[in-house]
Amino acid sequence: MTQATRYDARDGIAIISISNPPVNAASFAVRSGLADGIQHAEADPAVAAIVICCDGRTFIAGADIKEFGKPPVSPSLPSVVAAIEASTKPVIASLHGTVLGGGLEVALGAHYRIALPDTRFGLPEVKLGLLPGAGGTQRLPRLVPVEMAIDMITTGRQIKADEAQRAGLIDIIAKDGTPRDAGIAYAKALVADGQGARPTGDLLCQSSVGETFDAARSAVKKKMRGQVAPLTCIDAIEAATKLPLKEGLRVERDLFQKLMQGDQRAALIHAFFAERQVAKVPEIKEGSPREFASIGIIGGGTMGAGIATSALLSGLDVVLVETASDAAERALSTVTKTLQGSVKRGKLSQSAFEDIVERRFVTSTDYAILAEADIIIEAAFESMDVKKDIFAQLDAVCKPGAVLATNTSYLDVNTIADATDRPGDVIGLHFFSPAHMMKLLEVVVAEKTSPEVVATGFALAKKMQKIAVRAGVCDGFIGNRLLSFYRRAIDGAVMRGASPYDVDRALVDFGMAMGPFSVSDLAGLDIGYATRKRLAPFRDPREAYAEFSDRLCEKKRLGRKTGRGFYIYENGQTLEDPDVLDMIAQERAAKGIIAEQVTAQEIVERFMAAMVNEAARIVDEGIALRPLDVDVTLVNGYGFPRWRGGPMHYADTVGLDKILADVRRFSKEDDYLWEPAQLLETLVAGGQSFSDLNA
Ligand code: 3HC
Repeated sequence: MTQATRYDARDGIAIISISNPPVNAASFAVRSGLADGIQHAEADPAVAAIVICCDGRTFIAGADIKEFGKPPVSPSLPSVVAAIEASTKPVIASLHGTVLGGGLEVALGAHYRIALPDTRFGLPEVKLGLLPGAGGTQRLPRLVPVEMAIDMITTGRQIKADEAQRAGLIDIIAKDGTPRDAGIAYAKALVADGQGARPTGDLLCQSSVGETFDAARSAVKKKMRGQVAPLTCIDAIEAATKLPLKEGLRVERDLFQKLMQGDQRAALIHAFFAERQVAKVPEIKEGSPREFASIGIIGGGTMGAGIATSALLSGLDVVLVETASDAAERALSTVTKTLQGSVKRGKLSQSAFEDIVERRFVTSTDYAILAEADIIIEAAFESMDVKKDIFAQLDAVCKPGAVLATNTSYLDVNTIADATDRPGDVIGLHFFSPAHMMKLLEVVVAEKTSPEVVATGFALAKKMQKIAVRAGVCDGFIGNRLLSFYRRAIDGAVMRGASPYDVDRALVDFGMAMGPFSVSDLAGLDIGYATRKRLAPFRDPREAYAEFSDRLCEKKRLGRKTGRGFYIYENGQTLEDPDVLDMIAQERAAKGIIAEQVTAQEIVERFMAAMVNEAARIVDEGIALRPLDVDVTLVNGYGFPRWRGGPMHYADTVGLDKILADVRRFSKEDDYLWEPAQLLETLVAGGQSFSDLNA
């Protein structure tokens, strides 16, 4: 046995228990222990059945991802699963927690499966750019309907124990007890009943026609645009329906190895670890989070109502203040409607909804209701005067120790903090719209913010199931500062000759969730216009300022909300508009610019070079702690394709020298916008990458 596994046998039942915290990943030690345990039990004539179970919070939650990319060490997981399946004595997997990836594959190799009631099951490899590579694509469709296997494997979705039992994935749900006790009791019952080994591989897939796979492929192409793994998963499952287990496993292994070598696998695993690393910030070591149960919100517009909804859904009580009673009522009705939608979708129980309406959500026009709130989040109009006034009032009414947060997207949190006598309690909590759906939360740390307040911001994100990224104070923090910058670069591409529609198409093809001009239309063009007007007095005369977005605002074309922006929104259709192209042509003519052809590749190069160059400055200035914080921000808040890992990971993949060469190439036409970032130059000169700075 290894340190990660224990073996004992009693009353004819051998028990292999795994203990490899935190999630019992199938590391080398676990695989070796499992293989040894099976061998031992096979050789012991006193053993009639074998139970595999885990200590701690979960059964094996997957292969050990940290071993990926390193030379493989025997025994491999597929060979261990094969040994389990080949056992002549019945093997019982006793499951709890999250039985994921390689963990579920071990369970599929076992002959019987029992699970505690709150166990969840999934094959999430696709989210890491992989397919289940230890038999999952071959054995799952032998146990559950092929359509369900396709769904689980291509989406990585988890299912609960009752669904797993109905589908045939597990045999029985344990009533209570530990996984070990439940497994032993089930094993004894099976032995008493004369049940023997029952290899999953001996079963046949329920027949499935070619059309099932064609339909699955076209659905996946649409939903998971640009991604290689989901389509490869379907190829492997199709092999399961056509080939004997042994041959199917060979196909699966080849496809798995191919994905393992790919850039998408590296990018998605980078994203996985970056999203966990991002919570490791210095303040959390220095201070503990303050307790919180109630949230106060100032402002019931889209943002305030969204934050209220999100907080209520996470079990927090909310009091919301608006300036006038009709606005307060509107906020109440917006939040209530969204929550009713959650009830319909089964995300919120009817009784929890009623509790919210009756007791947990209160709106008012009086700041006095904020007196007992633990965290107050201001989501009012983006004006420094408005914010200063609000924070002075909060200082007067809020209890000592309350966290005073602003949801500003751009404004200086230091100045806002100075409007109070307790700047240590003031922080930026920048949510993204719609706040009850978007995962990202920028935690903006001002000069005097105390470590406990930072830790509380991270704890709030966790409670609200969001991913918090620490950002320093500057105009736009990490995300919006980058957005403003890359928008200038692509506005430049439009002035050179691309149309906004060319830009949107090129960047959607690159993998962005939406093109930047469609995003502006959705957000409302007046938002960016207000920021540009605010910054106009500080604009450097060397900046080549494209005016076409301002012209649209002046014509009251504010995007979707007015039916026209860069696009026309009519009868449920989105149409390109020749008038917009004329307007841009006029601006070019007035500036003496002769339009050139700008290819899709060049649009992407400009977009990425601008983003990476500015992000290098953001890291250099300490606004982002590490390059990975930029990656997590862009992936979770700005629709950057996760399968490219984030802009910094992408830059490492294509090579920082290539990015710097692009910056220098574009700087020949505009050396102000395209001034190379010092950090980028230093890294290239030293042959380093951004990932070296993540360590
Ligand atoms: N390998 C190595 N480390 C892992 C891991 C894995 N499979 N899964 C989680 N961890 C680590 C995390 O990095 C984290 O480390 P840290 O504390 O140093 O940051 C720690 O375990 C705890 O993880 P979480 O913070 O995510 O804990 P949660 O309780 O929130 O979630 C979980 C637990 C649901 C198991 C979640 O970690 C998860 O989804 N893990 C990934 C599961 C997965 O993708 N499995 C498939 C792996 S690929 C595979 O199996 C290939 C096979 O087919 C051959």
